[in-house]
Amino acid sequence: MLDLVKLELKEKVLKELNYDVDIEIPRRGDYDLAIPLFRLLKTTNLALPILYEQVKNVIITHPHIESTELIGAFLNIKLNSQSFSRDVMTTVYKLGENFGSLESNNEVVVIDYSSPNIAKNFSVGHLRSTVIGHSLKLIHQKLGYTVIGINHLGDWGTQFGKLLVAYDLWGSEEMLKEKPIGELQRIYIKFHEVAETKPELEDEAREAFKQLELGDKEKHKLWQYFRQESLKEFMKVYNLLDVKFDSYAGEAFYNDKIDHVIDVLDSKNLLKIDDGATIIDLGDDIPPALIKRSDGATLYMTRDLAALLYRYETYKMNKTLYLVGNEQKLHFEQLKRIVELLELPIEVVHVNFGLVLIDGKKMSTRSGTNANLYDVLLESISDAKEAIIEKNPTLESIDYASEAIGVGAVVFNDLKNDRNLNIDFNLENMLRFEGQTGPYLQYTSVRINSILKEATLDPSKVDYTLFNNPSYFELVKQISTFSEAIKKAAEDYNPSVISKHLLQLAQLFNSFYGQNRILVEDLATLNTNLLLISNVRTVINEGLRLLGIKYLDEM
Ligand code: ARG
Repeated sequence: MLDLVKLELKEKVLKELNYDVDIEIPRRGDYDLAIPLFRLLKTTNLALPILYEQVKNVIITHPHIESTELIGAFLNIKLNSQSFSRDVMTTVYKLGENFGSLESNNEVVVIDYSSPNIAKNFSVGHLRSTVIGHSLKLIHQKLGYTVIGINHLGDWGTQFGKLLVAYDLWGSEEMLKEKPIGELQRIYIKFHEVAETKPELEDEAREAFKQLELGDKEKHKLWQYFRQESLKEFMKVYNLLDVKFDSYAGEAFYNDKIDHVIDVLDSKNLLKIDDGATIIDLGDDIPPALIKRSDGATLYMTRDLAALLYRYETYKMNKTLYLVGNEQKLHFEQLKRIVELLELPIEVVHVNFGLVLIDGKKMSTRSGTNANLYDVLLESISDAKEAIIEKNPTLESIDYASEAIGVGAVVFNDLKNDRNLNIDFNLENMLRFEGQTGPYLQYTSVRINSILKEATLDPSKVDYTLFNNPSYFELVKQISTFSEAIKKAAEDYNPSVISKHLLQLAQLFNSFYGQNRILVEDLATLNTNLLLISNVRTVINEGLRLLGIKYLDEM
């Protein structure tokens, strides 16, 4: 809502003076807003004091503005804490969880996220794509976008040739029934070990995949079985995370849509034959994209292009986000370039992210540190349960709470920092009830809830003069900028903007709570306190929801 005031001031100045000003929120100090005037000095050719007077006279008529002061070349603005607080507090109280929501706009965004590979464990590494993507989906929905969430399963490609060959050589049907992904991983690893000394296995695998693509019945049946069992395992993780997709169309889905995309590429004269293979030249700065191998087999890129075209024809999206790690940077640069060459009006964004580290080391399948995410989540839930039993042994909804806290801790740990940074994966740290954790935010919300249960709020009895007190007003301002944080998170594709906003809000609340008694005799003060903290809880809960984390009534 501070953004609303900013916007109104900006428009006022534009309308009355025809100056296009920037309005900033100063990081520190006694002022709430600031307008840098130096840029205007040049364009207007006015002396600073005169310019200041001009802009000030316009600004000061806004009902939420108290005073202004010229410091350096900045016009500093103080809000009227009473009128601003009244506006913010009544709006948030009235809108509740809809505070910060925008009307539906006509934009469609496709978000391609999670997208694990069949026959492999759902690793902690795939967690990042899943939780960042899920949160971006919720954030965009809040802002009025139509969002299509797609799980582009890695269910096609030469690795299935390898699996088919390996299964033929070393597979056990019994073990496959018992522990599908475990067995598939075992033979996949074995394939690579053996292929080091017997490179002809790679040729066999390529041939097997080709047969699969050509529709070999036996091979197709086996592939389908691999896929179905893997998906069952993945669903266990999605259920815990409460993540749902609008489509599970993976790479294999595009098998019969390859000819179409090839036709479209051809009609734009983009295809070139190079040494028997089909490629697209992308200019001098990036390598050409390989579209078909010389044996006619398709590639990851071919299927991504088919997917993009199919999605465009089906959903008419304006924008498409790919939640994939940095190692695929080149792939998405190429994809983006091809979209430009095709002259499709789609904004393609590769939303990349840092690595997951355990004790400062990168995880990998080979080293065995690539832990299975489902097991890790169960461990986190059970640790959370232990902690709750200690804190609140009579809690009724203990299983629900442990799951919300255990899973929320892992999710928040992923979303609390800028997505480009590597994250440290340490259950003990993420499950702490103090510090920058999910449980800390959930606990702050529960604490407010238990205070609110002690009294009944009557919003007509609020005394807005109390908001002149900085410990009240700081909270109001933080609440008011929640809507800005949501927009910024979408703009930067970065849910951590919301995480940081919530941490700061919780911190301000906890220091407010340390300084002020909330349940006081005086009715006006009591109701002011209740309204304020109830609005704090509204923002924390809605913020947690946007991160894909459950809030609780008690814990
Ligand atoms: N399955 C791929 C992997 O794990 C990620 C797929 C991402 N999405 C896409 N449309 N390429 O590396």
